Amino acid sequence: MRPVVLVTGANGQLGQSLRFVADKYSQIDFVFCDSKALDITLKVEIASVFNTIKPDFCINTAAYTAVDKAESEPDKATAINVTGAKNLAEACKEFKTKLIHVSTDFVFDGNAKTPYTEEAIPNPQSVYGQTKLDGEEAIQSILQDYFIVRTSWVYSQFGNNFMKTMLRLARERNELAVVDDQIGTPTHAVDLANVLVQIILYTSKNPEINTYGIYNFSNEGACSWFDFAQKIFEVNNIKIDLQPIPSSKYPTPAHRPRYSVLDKSKIKKTFDIEIKTWDETI
Ligand SMILES: NC(=O)c1ccc[n+]([C@@H]2O[C@H](COP(=O)([O-])OP(=O)(O)OC[C@H]3O[C@@H](n4cnc5c(N)ncnc54)[C@H](OP(=O)(O)O)[C@@H]3O)[C@@H](O)[C@H]2O)c1
Repeated sequence: MRPVVLVTGANGQLGQSLRFVADKYSQIDFVFCDSKALDITLKVEIASVFNTIKPDFCINTAAYTAVDKAESEPDKATAINVTGAKNLAEACKEFKTKLIHVSTDFVFDGNAKTPYTEEAIPNPQSVYGQTKLDGEEAIQSILQDYFIVRTSWVYSQFGNNFMKTMLRLARERNELAVVDDQIGTPTHAVDLANVLVQIILYTSKNPEINTYGIYNFSNEGACSWFDFAQKIFEVNNIKIDLQPIPSSKYPTPAHRPRYSVLDKSKIKKTFDIEIKTWDETI
């Protein structure tokens, strides 16, 4: 039987990337719900959708992702990232649906010097990071059959992201300064979408193997935002005066991790996945 996969937040960047790859996977029935069709803060809407489609898997891409704004809207961020995640987990428990929830490198404080494994102790430094961690913990307290996939610096042709901001700024300005002391790894949203589907295919094919738990996924390698911007301009053949600056010269309401490279050994080994380097995906 073809697994039925509910995708929440379907008009977001990752939601659109999942729509983009869905045609490739004819062995899966995808049901895409944007925030209008399914508001994850409303249990009644979740119950109605789950009752109608009875999903085998639910990929939760719905989230409050405005990292800086979250500092002044903690209640809204909590409602979506914590209560919303909890509501979905409860419905997944009732309907025996496997939940695939997406989380973030911002659960870490950024003080590490080597890539964060799934066992590293989270210590979020922002409201957004805290709500994403609280959402993870809410899911773990309700479900055993869950996948939490932490990712970082997500970009694509869809939605709002750093790459699109850089391309827009390059049209508006001749010079640009970008921070070079925050180190992480960009993640192409389409690569992430494909990996989430691989998890579903593997789990459907091997129901006797318990692979549930937390996983890291980003592209391979590490760079600064400055390096990322430089590569974006190089690939797009854009000439611009690009200057590196320290984070102290670009203050933001939310504190961001200085270092948030994720160790992908677990996801690669468990699901036999090969990952492209960040600079070959742009
Ligand atoms: N983007 C990154 O760099 C990044 C990095 C690490 C982790 N992540 C995680 O990756 C996941 C996907 O991120 P993304 O880049 O796709 O974010 P995104 O583009 O902001 O998409 C999030 C989607 O969630 C929807 N949403 C908000 N509140 C909702 C609600 N109450 N019910 C249902 N849907 C709701 C939004 O719909 P509306 O627009 O209609 O409100 C939006 O379409 C998130 O869990 C995020 O925390 C992202």
